[in-house]
Amino acid sequence: MTDEPTPYGSTSDADSGLKRVRTRHFARAKEQGIKITGLTSYDCLSAALFDSAGIDFLLVGDSAGNAVFGYDTTLPVTIDELIPLCRAVARAAKRALVVADMPFGSYEAGPTEALHTALRFMKETEVHAVKLEGGRRSAKQIRRIVRSGIPVMAHIGYTPQSEHGLGGHVIQGRGADAACLLDDARAVEEAGAFAVVLEMVPSAVAGQVTAELSIPTISVGAGPHCDGQLLVWTDWAGFTTGRIPKFVKQYANIGQTLLDAAVAFRDDVDNGTYPAAEHEYGA
Ligand code: KIV
Repeated sequence: MTDEPTPYGSTSDADSGLKRVRTRHFARAKEQGIKITGLTSYDCLSAALFDSAGIDFLLVGDSAGNAVFGYDTTLPVTIDELIPLCRAVARAAKRALVVADMPFGSYEAGPTEALHTALRFMKETEVHAVKLEGGRRSAKQIRRIVRSGIPVMAHIGYTPQSEHGLGGHVIQGRGADAACLLDDARAVEEAGAFAVVLEMVPSAVAGQVTAELSIPTISVGAGPHCDGQLLVWTDWAGFTTGRIPKFVKQYANIGQTLLDAAVAFRDDVDNGTYPAAEHEYGA
């Protein structure tokens, strides 16, 4: 431990000009029982806002497939599609650690393919870490990337890129499957991941994983016992036309706000109230 102040904590910490969140701060947060917060972000405006709110990490998720590109799943998302989004988020985030999601088809073939993908994100954007899905099946890939000096956030439990293999949006780690989830968690820790996302896992099982691992667990629908919480921002802000999962708390209704604003604008233009005198330039 050093005397350096932890960058975790309240928004006022974020306001006081603390330095970049690093992977070592994730480890320290777990040791000290301080919760870690993460949100997805796909553009510079949301990234700047979340960063100034003191959110600890921003994930440029392949959920951009649904939230940005209009696909039904994350499967079609490519590296080339995510790279400009990563650049925008990394440029805007002054404090948060920025994580690039490695898309489906960019790492499954083996450690060499995984390393090439991770290198592209690190060289072509200014992200600080990468994330990939899978436990034991992705351990070799994680180890190879970490050995090259690139931090990896792992992702187990429900893994959206395997939606078809898993038979849909199914909670993972229930009953006898809890042991498999623990094996996956141990495998990614042993491979060198600095944190692991647990998605759609029963709270008690996530608590067991959190107690057993020395790296922080980040919940996406895995309950309160994890070391941190991550949400897809368009879900909690109500900026989606899709189904909002049960584990998401609604913090805003931006979709309705924007719809109301667009209707008001259309009406103002139709009836001549916009532009008014204050919006005009003199000769
Ligand atoms: O792409 C994404 O947003 C994610 C989170 C749901 C973990 O992978």
